[in-house]
Amino acid sequence: MTHHAQLDWQDGQPFSRAFGDVYFSRASGLEETRHVFLHHNELAKRFAALPEHGQFSIGETGFGTGLNFLCAWQCFETHAPASARLHFVSTEKFPLAPDDLRQALALWPELAPYSGELLAQYDTLTPGWQRFVLRGGRVTLTLLIGDALETLPELDARIDAWFLDGFAPAKNPDMWQPVLFEQMARLSSPGATFATFTSAGVVRRGLSAAGFAVEKVPGYGHKREMCCGRLERTPEPGWQAPWFARPQAAPSERSAIVIGGGIAGAASAASLARRGWQVTLVERHERLAQEASGNPQGVLYAKLSPHFTPLTRLVLAGYGYSLRTLHTELPQSEANWQACGVLQLPHDGDSPEKQAELAAAGWPDGFLRQLDQREASELAGIDLPSGGLLFPQAGWLNPARLIARLADHPNIRLALGEPVLELARDPAERLWVAYGQDGPVAVGAVVVIAGGAEAAAFDATHHLPLKRIRGQVTVAPATADSRRLKTVLCGEGYVSPARNDTHCLGATFKFGTDDLSVQPSEHRENLDMLAGLSPELYRALDGEQLSEQRLAGRAAFRCTSPDYLPIVGPVADRSAFIDRYRPLGQDATRRLDAPAPWVDGLYVNTAHGSRGMITAPLAGEILAAYLDNEPAPLPKSLLDALHPSRFLLRDLIRQKLKG
Ligand SMILES: Cc1cc2nc3c(=O)[nH]c(=O)nc-3n(C[C@H](O)[C@H](O)[C@H](O)COP(=O)(O)OP(=O)(O)OC[C@H]3O[C@@H](n4cnc5c(N)ncnc54)[C@H](O)[C@@H]3O)c2cc1C
Ligand SMILES: C[S@@+](CC[C@H](N)C(=O)[O-])C[C@H]1O[C@@H](n2cnc3c(N)ncnc32)[C@H](O)[C@@H]1O
Repeated sequence: MTHHAQLDWQDGQPFSRAFGDVYFSRASGLEETRHVFLHHNELAKRFAALPEHGQFSIGETGFGTGLNFLCAWQCFETHAPASARLHFVSTEKFPLAPDDLRQALALWPELAPYSGELLAQYDTLTPGWQRFVLRGGRVTLTLLIGDALETLPELDARIDAWFLDGFAPAKNPDMWQPVLFEQMARLSSPGATFATFTSAGVVRRGLSAAGFAVEKVPGYGHKREMCCGRLERTPEPGWQAPWFARPQAAPSERSAIVIGGGIAGAASAASLARRGWQVTLVERHERLAQEASGNPQGVLYAKLSPHFTPLTRLVLAGYGYSLRTLHTELPQSEANWQACGVLQLPHDGDSPEKQAELAAAGWPDGFLRQLDQREASELAGIDLPSGGLLFPQAGWLNPARLIARLADHPNIRLALGEPVLELARDPAERLWVAYGQDGPVAVGAVVVIAGGAEAAAFDATHHLPLKRIRGQVTVAPATADSRRLKTVLCGEGYVSPARNDTHCLGATFKFGTDDLSVQPSEHRENLDMLAGLSPELYRALDGEQLSEQRLAGRAAFRCTSPDYLPIVGPVADRSAFIDRYRPLGQDATRRLDAPAPWVDGLYVNTAHGSRGMITAPLAGEILAAYLDNEPAPLPKSLLDALHPSRFLLRDLIRQKLKG
């Protein structure tokens, strides 16, 4: 769990109470960073040598105040071509609390254009892996919150330069272990360099043993020596499950067809477009956001399990990312979105005791807190039957507004009113063609299918086990009394503060139906659910008198997978996959080596269930990381848990598949 760094401020400089060490040199942190990390990784020269659309990845141990990151970013902006991109991946066991970060970075007015942007997003730091998109996507920061010895083994990246920071080995011996240096070597691209402020023997020996050539050079200020060097001996790669490996074939050109104009399609298109891809976003309706993503209000509802299941880990990463996306992309307003807080009331086996246990699990300040009945009612502005868990930073959004914003990019062309009926591959050109009723609709080297449950309508994706679950929301007219509601309430269902004179409440769950007509009986279910959340709000909305026949609402299908996790990543050819990996049916532990039979350039982003507002935006970044061979935004085990091939694999192992 996340524990913020405990700082003492000595002469205005941050000092770690736990490690008894400084974050940076007393004389000049800025100059020390430039000397140790930038100069000795030759960053200015290497950034300047990047080609158009080139990318460069830096890995760091110990994000601390972010000073190294901000200096690297400044150097990148000064020297790299305008179309190049910087990835900065940093692991941090004890992230600074936002106020401490603000105070520390105020020391460097020169960096204000960079630190301001970081600080604006840093408030929404949640546990786990956190992706920040800065400068419109030119700079990406992936913060791996956790111990370097646990996060780096889960990282899927190629690092060009290492900033080996962290408190002095004598004060922080636990971090400077052989496994750290081995992980650095594993993650390094050929010729990767490193620099570190220390010249301690344990560090030099560890780096040499892992395959780095180590040189002692003069340190900064009073420090006589530091070390730098480069990877000389690439380690033998360990075995990796080929069915979950990254497809190696680079696309013939940077053009993509994205099928589906909901949140998953728009997020995929936006992530690719800001990397310079030319995207055609194809939607069968005349407008975007007409199906599951078409509700007037969607809630950012981070329902967590105390067991840190893959779903909870994904939700933690996605929640922060969606919030940061909203804050940077869409001004808050009654039409767009509101960070009004989400109050989770106990339901479904949840109890105040269980909520107390979850609340006490050591979350970062400002992420969640437990409120008693009186506090909760006061905060919500309406009488509530119980207390609950408050997520103060969360709220509701109008999905269509976010989707429109994401799709509004010069590199995205919209093809609306175009149902894609067939996908065909031109093997000579290595291009996909999407066919509609009247012929080709779009051409691209890559296809991302983000069509909800319709994603399985194509031959190559027919095997994906997608289910549809109908849901209906009720849109009730606000009253003078109901307008007192100030936060979203969640329990069995949810209700949001008024948007444009109405409240959106929902939602029903209906299995095994193809019908999307609005049902009065489901309005009644939603109203009954509301009565359970807050009898006072139910009365304020005149719940008893509202005519189910005359209420407005809409129904749509959620798309889910058998394990309720989204499906995000490259698609394999089903029958070749079965042929190639059949021995797993006899022995699931077989270390087969044959590369997976990918369908060249085909990806999916779907099955976001009832929490697409939290998971779909980050899924766009996952796809872009696959396609551009970038550092992944999530731990490898979680990427595998979302992988489209997981069901084929599971069925092979259970011997449930026939060729
Ligand atoms: C009633 C209800 C309430 C919900 N409430 C919340 C909530 O409060 N918070 C939350 O996080 N989530 C909520 N969800 C879930 C969330 O809405 C979904 O997870 C999310 O919208 C899924 O987005 P998507 O882009 O995958 O699918 P969709 O929004 O369904 O988009 C898929 C798009 O693909 C298009 N398409 C499909 N096939 C083709 C084709 N062949 N050619 C062209 N276009 C095609 C479709 O027309 C559609 O526009 C709710 C869902 C429902 C149904
Ligand atoms: C000297 S500070 C880093 C300074 C930082 N690079 C900067 O630019 O401000 C060292 C950082 O390493 C972090 N750290 C220490 N041990 C760690 C570990 N095992 N894993 C990850 N981070 C660790 C500390 O919490 C601290 O923030």
